[in-house]
Formats: sequence, C-alpha cells, structure tokens
Amino acid sequence: MHPAAQPADSISLISKVSCRICQSELLPILDFGKMPLANAFLDQKDFEQEYFFNLATGFCSRCFMFQLLEQPAPEKMFHQAYPFYTRSSQRMVEHFKQLAETLKKFLYPGAFLVEMGSNDGTLLENFQGTGIECMGIEPSANVAAEALKRGIPTQIDFFGPQVAAQLAKQSDGADVLVAANCLCHIPDLASVFSGLGLLLKKTGVAVFEDPYLGEVLAKTAYDQIYDEHVFLFSVTSMSEMLSSYGFEIFDLEPQWTHGGSMRYFICRKGQREPSASVAAWLAKESEAGFKTLKPYEEFRKRVEISKVQLLECLENFKRQAVPVAGYAATSKSTTVLNYCGIGPELISFISDTTPDKQGKLTPGSHIPVVPPEIFHQANPKAAVLFAWNHAAEILRKEENFKASGGKWIHFVPKVQID
Ligand code: TMP
Ligand code: ZN
Repeated sequence: MHPAAQPADSISLISKVSCRICQSELLPILDFGKMPLANAFLDQKDFEQEYFFNLATGFCSRCFMFQLLEQPAPEKMFHQAYPFYTRSSQRMVEHFKQLAETLKKFLYPGAFLVEMGSNDGTLLENFQGTGIECMGIEPSANVAAEALKRGIPTQIDFFGPQVAAQLAKQSDGADVLVAANCLCHIPDLASVFSGLGLLLKKTGVAVFEDPYLGEVLAKTAYDQIYDEHVFLFSVTSMSEMLSSYGFEIFDLEPQWTHGGSMRYFICRKGQREPSASVAAWLAKESEAGFKTLKPYEEFRKRVEISKVQLLECLENFKRQAVPVAGYAATSKSTTVLNYCGIGPELISFISDTTPDKQGKLTPGSHIPVVPPEIFHQANPKAAVLFAWNHAAEILRKEENFKASGGKWIHFVPKVQID
C-alpha cells in the first residue's frame, strides 16, 4: 500500500514520503495543514465523522514532479456520489466540442477512441453518429450514469492494465486515448501507463490535458492544490515521467481550462517527430528554474501573503457589518477556506448551480451551499469569486450583481476588490 493510501491518523507518523514516479525523497514545499476532501460536502449530522488529512506538497529534485506528500485513497474521492459534472459549465461543453474536432484528426470511421475519466460523457457525445467507436472509463458511478443515459458506452472502473487488456482484446487496440483533467488525479500512474502500453496501437496517440504548474505559479493559484490533484505537471516533469514509461510528447498547446492547462500530444517513443514547441517549452521552463526549488519557494511566500490579504479583506467587510457571499462551491474553494480558516462568520453562504451540493455545508468550513436563486434574492454587497477560472462566463451572467452595487472579491492572481 502506498503511504498516501493510509488513513489520516497514521499519516502523521510518516516522516518521509517518496516520489510516486521515481521513488526519490520529496522536498517539502507548502503545508496547508488539516484539510477535508475537497468534494466532501456534508450535513451537520456528519460533522463528527468528517474525514481530514494533511494537505502538503513536495517537489522531487530527481524527476522534477510537483506532488502531494499525502493523499487519501482514490475510492474516498471518486465514488457513487462524486458531485462534479463537466456539463455544469457551458464553456466546458464548448471546449470539449473543440477538443473532439482536434481528436478527429487522428481518427477515422471504425477507429477506436477511449476516454479515461469520461465523467458525464460531455466529450464523447461529440462522436455519436460519426462511426468512431468510443468507450468511456469512469470510476464515479453517478456521473457515469449520466453518460449511459445519453447512450455513451461507459465502463464504471478505474483505468489500469486490467481494463486496458480487456479493451485491447475486444479491439485491435486504441487509436486515441484521451484524458482531460484526469491524469493529475491518479496517484498510481505506473498502472495507467502500463494500461496505455497494452491498449494503444503502435502509432496511436494519447492526449492529456491537465492544470499546468507554470500557470499555478504565475497566478499564485494555490487552490489548484487539493486531495484530488495529486500531481501538478510541468512540461519538464511530464516529459521525464513519460520517458520512464516509454512514451514522449510530440506536441503541446496551452489551454484556458481549469485556470490554465496544458494539452499534451503523446506517442510511443520515436513514433513521431516532436514539434519545435516541445523543445521551446522545455527551454522556457529550464530558464525559469523549474528544475530547482527556487520558483516553488517563491510561490510559497506569495501564498502566505495571499492568505493574510484575503483574511484582512473579509474581516474589513465584517467590521463594517457587510455580509459577504461566496460564488461557486468549487473543489478549489475547499483549500482556500480551510487554509485561511474562513467559516460562516466571514462568508454567510456560497451559491452553486450543482444540485448535489445545494442544501449541504462546505467541507471543513461548514458554510451553507445554496442555489443561485438565493444569491439573487439576497443580492449581497460582496461576493468572493471562487470559480475564478470561469470568471468571464460568470461576470457576464451576473452583470446585475455589479450593476446593483455588488463587489467581486478576487484572490487569483492576487487579492483585489472590483
Ligand atoms: P470547477 O472550478 O472545479 O470547474 O468548479 C465548478 C463549480 O462551480 C461547480 O460546483 C458548479 C459551480 N458553478 C456555479 O455555481 N456557477 C457557474 O456559473 C459556474 C460556471 C460554475
Ligand atoms: Zn521523482
């Protein structure tokens, strides 16, 4: 059992955690302290059983992977009540439509496309009626059920060698394997790549899209760090890791999603000519010191300042007796709320469109989650924008909030009231 898969009580006894990729010792970077699971929205009756672990990150000076020191078992996070539906954002639906167009360049009628972490089928539905065979692999039963309802073939499971071997047996192998915002959630990547090795055709392509470490550092977006994001990849660490598993990046493209992501086009080593941008990104990261501790240490200092400033801002509103709301009970907000020690005394409620979250309390911080209608009725004077990665969509949708004198409180890239 990986140390990260042990229960929280025993975790405190572990003094050293090794890199999940190369087993070297990890250098600690940031310690957020006691943290619940980002998506464990709960009722008051469940307070006593609430699960906490220690959220802290480390850096591997050998393979340059930025990762969590400890992580709860995946079964605790991706289960039959996983409350995140890709479809909850219209822009994400459009993003996946465009991703589908990109993938079609590697596909043809009769080709086999596998998606790892297919969620509610938002990407795969774009292939219905194209003659391209699809299979989604999704461990969270409730979101997978949504995909199945739409007629998208979905297997409720974690992707690994067993699933891959079985899919390979039923086909001539996959032409494309895609995983969007999925790889960074998986502690045991050796199992994923062993599966990929079995399933992908010799000339097949894998496309991964994950939050990009460079953007997290540039925006001081420390809220990208939570239990589900076991890794935050840079091009450097992705490239090192792939090499150790017999794959390589042949192209890459930055994406706006999840606050700044990178899309990696991957093949078996030596199968395709890498584009010039691969070397350019590696050089850029090398110049920025991504192989050293420096950028991560500087990031830690900025995170500590951000916490002080956000608390100061909320306490100011409290002193003036101005109630503050939250906008979108995102997974990322769990890190901010618990690390800064923000509870219902500073943020009275958080508006969120996800029915599974409404009526519940936020993990650890116990702030009520309400539907957007309540936010509109209450018309608060100030609101913290937790879904900052959807800012464009939300600011447009909530024009009335600002027009009627409401102030947005932003904390990425820095704390500011607008
Ligand atoms: P994400 O940052 O992980 O994509 O979180 C999305 C959450 O934000 C999800 O619970 C839905 C919520 N949300 C809203 O409440 N209103 C919105 O307008 C958007 C875009 C998301
Ligand atoms: Zn390592």
